[in-house]
Amino acid sequence: MADHYVEEFLSEEEVDKKIQEIGEKISRDYAGKSIHLICVLKGGSFFMCELAKRITVPVSIDFMSVSSYGAGTESSGVIKIVKDLDEPLEGKDVLIVEDIIDSGRTLSHLMKLLESRKPNSLKLCTLLDKPDRRVVDVKVDYTCFSIPDEFVVGYGLDYDQKYRNLPYIGIVRFN
Ligand code: IMP
Ligand code: MG
Repeated sequence: MADHYVEEFLSEEEVDKKIQEIGEKISRDYAGKSIHLICVLKGGSFFMCELAKRITVPVSIDFMSVSSYGAGTESSGVIKIVKDLDEPLEGKDVLIVEDIIDSGRTLSHLMKLLESRKPNSLKLCTLLDKPDRRVVDVKVDYTCFSIPDEFVVGYGLDYDQKYRNLPYIGIVRFN
C-alpha cells in the first residue's frame, strides 16, 4: 500500500472562479498600464497561465527559477538563481506570480533582488498562502486562498515532483 494519498481540498471550479476574480481585480488595479508577469518556476507556471488569460490589460511574461541553499525541507532564504530572467525590469510594472508562500524566506529574498533592478513597481501575487508558517514578513498584494498548515499539491505544486498536473488542489495525507 502506498504511504500517502491525496485528498481533494479545493476543486478545479473553486480555483478557476477565484483566479477569475483576482484577474479582474488586477486588471482594474493596473488600468491604463501593462503588466510584466514573472513566473517563479516550476510551481507558479500553471497558475500564471490561468491568471494571464484572465487579465485584460496588456501582459508580457518572463520566467525565473530559484533554489534555496541548504538541504532539508526548510528553505534557508539564501537563494541561488538557477535560471535568470531574459528581460530587464527597469521602468516596468512587475507582478511576481508564485504558487505558495510558506515561511516567506524565498520571496523575501527574491523581492529584494528584483527591487534592485529598478522596476517602476513590484507586487506579489500568490495562489496559496500559509500564514501560520510565516517566519519572514512578506507583503502579499494578491492572495487567492489562505490555507491551513497542510502540505498541498496540484495546480503546479508537487510532492517529490509528482502531482503538479492535478487540476485541483489536494492535501497529502500520510498513512
Ligand atoms: P518559503 O516560503 O521560502 O518557505 O518556500 C516556499 C516554497 O516551498 C514554495 O514555492 C514551494 O516550492 C514550497 N512549498 C511550501 N509549502 C508547500 C506545499 O504545501 N506544497 C508544495 N510545495 C510547498
Ligand atoms: Mg515556488
